[in-house]
Amino acid sequence: MCGIVGYIGHRDAYPIVIEGFRRLEYRGYDSAGIALFDGTDLKICKTKGKVADLEERSDKEITKTGNVGIGHTRWATHGVPNDVNSHPHLSNSGDLVIIHNGIIENYDSLKQELISRGYTFQSDTDTEVLINLIEDVKKQENVKLGHAVQIALNQVIGAYAIAVFDKNKPEEVVVARLGSPLAIGIGENEDEFFIASDASPFLEYTKNAVYLEDEEMAVIRFHKGIKVRKIKDDSLVPTYVQELQLNLEQIEKGGYEHFMLKEIHEQPKAITDTYRGRLLRNEAIIKMAGVEDNMKKFLNANRIIIVACGTSWHAGLVAEYIFEDLARIPVEVEYASEFRYRNPVITENDVLIAISQSGETADTLAAIKLAKSKGAFVFGVCNVVGSSIARETHAGAYTHAGPEIGVASTKAFTTQITVLTLMALRLARAKGTISSSDFRQHLLELEMIPKKVEKALESDSIIKQIADIYKNSTNCLYLGRGYNFPVALEGALKLKEISYIHAEGYPAAEMKHGPIALIDENMPIVVIATKKGHYEKVVSNIQEIKSRKGKIIGIVTEGDVQVKELADHVIEVPETLESLSPLLTTIPLQLLSYHIAVLLNKNVDQPRNLAKSVTVE
Ligand code: F6R
Repeated sequence: MCGIVGYIGHRDAYPIVIEGFRRLEYRGYDSAGIALFDGTDLKICKTKGKVADLEERSDKEITKTGNVGIGHTRWATHGVPNDVNSHPHLSNSGDLVIIHNGIIENYDSLKQELISRGYTFQSDTDTEVLINLIEDVKKQENVKLGHAVQIALNQVIGAYAIAVFDKNKPEEVVVARLGSPLAIGIGENEDEFFIASDASPFLEYTKNAVYLEDEEMAVIRFHKGIKVRKIKDDSLVPTYVQELQLNLEQIEKGGYEHFMLKEIHEQPKAITDTYRGRLLRNEAIIKMAGVEDNMKKFLNANRIIIVACGTSWHAGLVAEYIFEDLARIPVEVEYASEFRYRNPVITENDVLIAISQSGETADTLAAIKLAKSKGAFVFGVCNVVGSSIARETHAGAYTHAGPEIGVASTKAFTTQITVLTLMALRLARAKGTISSSDFRQHLLELEMIPKKVEKALESDSIIKQIADIYKNSTNCLYLGRGYNFPVALEGALKLKEISYIHAEGYPAAEMKHGPIALIDENMPIVVIATKKGHYEKVVSNIQEIKSRKGKIIGIVTEGDVQVKELADHVIEVPETLESLSPLLTTIPLQLLSYHIAVLLNKNVDQPRNLAKSVTVE
């Protein structure tokens, strides 16, 4: 989704904004632009394309000086990606300038109203409507910029994170948020301020940040600090300055060619970080404050509803197997986007678990609000600390995966499964649905997973060879059963996302009910056929594929003999419990899609049309 970077202080804003764009590139975008003020002139440069295109254009079109700057990378919603629709946008007078993430839903009626009052528009965007609305309010009501922004936003329906300034009063930038994240970095002596969609653009300058909550705005004044207010009633909100725990190395590639590859290789550490302090094997206990504090809610729940999108939804499907299998609690897994709009039956005895890496996914957030309004207890599983979903839920558990920058989710998935497994085990223990020896065995095995993931990563060169053989395929099937059915879905999603090859995941037994018609000698089929979990049945499915000449890539347990004889290729993973196998079988599927995408010369970290956090519906 769109990214915002801004600066007001004593330094040149241009390099800060441009470098900030690079840190936000992972969010996905199709155009970029910047507005700079140097004390005399307001300079705007914007273009369809990448940040490098903006730099090239800036070199030719503007002087890059100025201590006030706001910049934007746009992911088109209203209006195609082109130079005119790119941000920043100016008001009709040319005095006010804005950048905006999100969608103004009632922009058309506001636009008609403004047109009837003589306003004209250059672009197709909702953002240009908003800046003219602010200008109109400022003139009509004769108020300062901050007040005009507040009044205008009260007329707006939709979602936004905005930054606005007036070239006649450039020592002041007004920001506001509803539904799209916005962080303000505060310089050491409070004499410079940074504005960004997340903290990564300003990490080398300051570790102090204020995160605006929904329906809050802030007026940032050079040398005078910031004032945060409620948009609804203009009341002052105490400013809460957080000390950031992030460091620069975490958001850099660290010698890897792509963030995705770095993040795949970080999984042993990420999984360890996720269970550290929670899995206490010597004492044979699992400690999770969010679960302990709400144990009654979980134990008395009629059912657990899991809501999520994309990869996080796949983690939810794995959780369905493990919660039902170990803790014997009925689970339903829902796409957040469907759940929120289909008038679901939710009662006070339901527990809703929302899973989200970013903690900002609009549909998941809306599903949470709906469940809360019906009295359900809502638990969040998020990666980004302090994110909107983490704040909106009653309780939760973080996945300590560290920043995930590659658009295709990898370590977020395995750490989500780790957290959900810990939860299921803790609840199973409390309910008495798992024996103490089984519980101990799970703890032991879970503790060994990071080493086993390291072992699974050693198949990298074999996987690269297989990727080379199948890179030109136009279709691919992924099959798995039981715990590994969601892994098949996840493998297919990874291939689609970054290599643009059409892929589908199926429960292996469903093949006979349709997909088998697709199989011929040109169809690669990835089959997860690990030793535990319906092995013999999957072997029969492989026989069926073989007799139709499909090309079989088997994901097997170390030392497997049977599948090796039937498959065209096998990739081994270490043996583990069936319930933990997704943590290992996922690894070769991530590497397979990564290598295919690299061999096809695709943009692995920023695949076309995709955004890292989907803050619009
Ligand atoms: C896939 C992917 C997306 C996300 C989905 C949910 O690789 O990254 O499918 O999983 O957009 O995002 P979060 O987990 O941030 O809510």
